[in-house]
Amino acid sequence: MMRKKAILITGASGEIGQALISSLSETSSLPILTLDLHPIPKDLLDVCTHISGDILDQKLLARLVTEFDFELIFHLAALLSTRSEFSPELAHQVNVDGTLALLQVAAEQSQRRGAPVTFIFPSSIAAYGMPDLGTKARDRSVKEWQWNNPTTMYGCNKLYCEHLGIYYSKYYQQLSASRPVMLDFRSLRFPGLISAYTVPSGGTTDYGPEMLHAAAQGKPYACFVREDSVLPFMAMPDAVTALLELASAPAESLHHSVYNVTSFSLSAADFRDQVARAFPDTRITFEPDLKRQGIVDSWPAELDDQAARRDWGWSPAYDLHRAFNEYLVPNIHKRYQR
Ligand code: NAD
Ligand code: SER
Repeated sequence: MMRKKAILITGASGEIGQALISSLSETSSLPILTLDLHPIPKDLLDVCTHISGDILDQKLLARLVTEFDFELIFHLAALLSTRSEFSPELAHQVNVDGTLALLQVAAEQSQRRGAPVTFIFPSSIAAYGMPDLGTKARDRSVKEWQWNNPTTMYGCNKLYCEHLGIYYSKYYQQLSASRPVMLDFRSLRFPGLISAYTVPSGGTTDYGPEMLHAAAQGKPYACFVREDSVLPFMAMPDAVTALLELASAPAESLHHSVYNVTSFSLSAADFRDQVARAFPDTRITFEPDLKRQGIVDSWPAELDDQAARRDWGWSPAYDLHRAFNEYLVPNIHKRYQR
């Protein structure tokens, strides 16, 4: 049977997936196959073929391999950080076993087609673990190899999967007589992402977008971290641009497998001020949850994304000002007015 060429997006019904499908369908001539436990919004069904299923379902993956020839895989399916702390073993299954299963799919397909499948993996600031707030303030902007001491199950999963991806792209079956064609693994470490069109759930950076979406609906919001908590953030269109640019970067220009990307860093109080400027009637209070606070304190204040800028020309289009004034506020406003 002739396999159909396609791009695969796992976790496609999530925040990034929904944004990615729209952009990818405008630029790619290949059919897009999406896989998620949940359905995707109806308006996206015109531009992709959706399969409702579990990435841990080996039979389903085996069927996909026989039907499709994937050139590119965006493996987005995961349990996010807060959710993972409530179900760490399940998180390990989805985040690690699921990634391993997809890497095996990509390895097998690379071998069969005699050309590497490009495998894009979104990692996270959670791969870092700052030992204390003094270090977080001092080593404000971290490089990819610094402070790789995650304190969450999600962070451990992400860091390990970065290594698994590198293994499958460089060392897989390294002792066999004939080396297989390796897959092409590329990973981004994202900061907290903020979308105007979807609301996050299960993450620890969620207080930023939650504040904004609550205010736009005229609802009060109690922020679960201290006012002085600083994290890096990025607007969703930049996250999609980063995924697409990394996927299409020439292999010879990439000197690393894992790249930090970021846009702006701000404290929770600064976030509140931005939101209050746009929605003056908003009521935002601070009621820190000490456990989630501990996770935020362990994540760096800034990401050093020099390598991405140098190797594949990364540059976010939305700085703090543009993100709020041109993307988030007008679109969120419209969304809730409707
Ligand atoms: P999300 O929670 O909105 O989406 C994840 C999707 O994965 C969900 O639709 C969920 O149904 C699906 N999923 C979970 N388990 C699955 C399974 N077993 N089989 C099939 N599908 C399954 O998250 P998102 O924000 O869209 O994140 C996508 C990816 O980007 C994740 O890997 C996440 O770790 C990473 N990331 C996100 C952020 C962020 O701030 N949103 C930051 C860094 C990294
Ligand atoms: N936004 C994500 C989370 O908080 C970071 O990867 O889990």
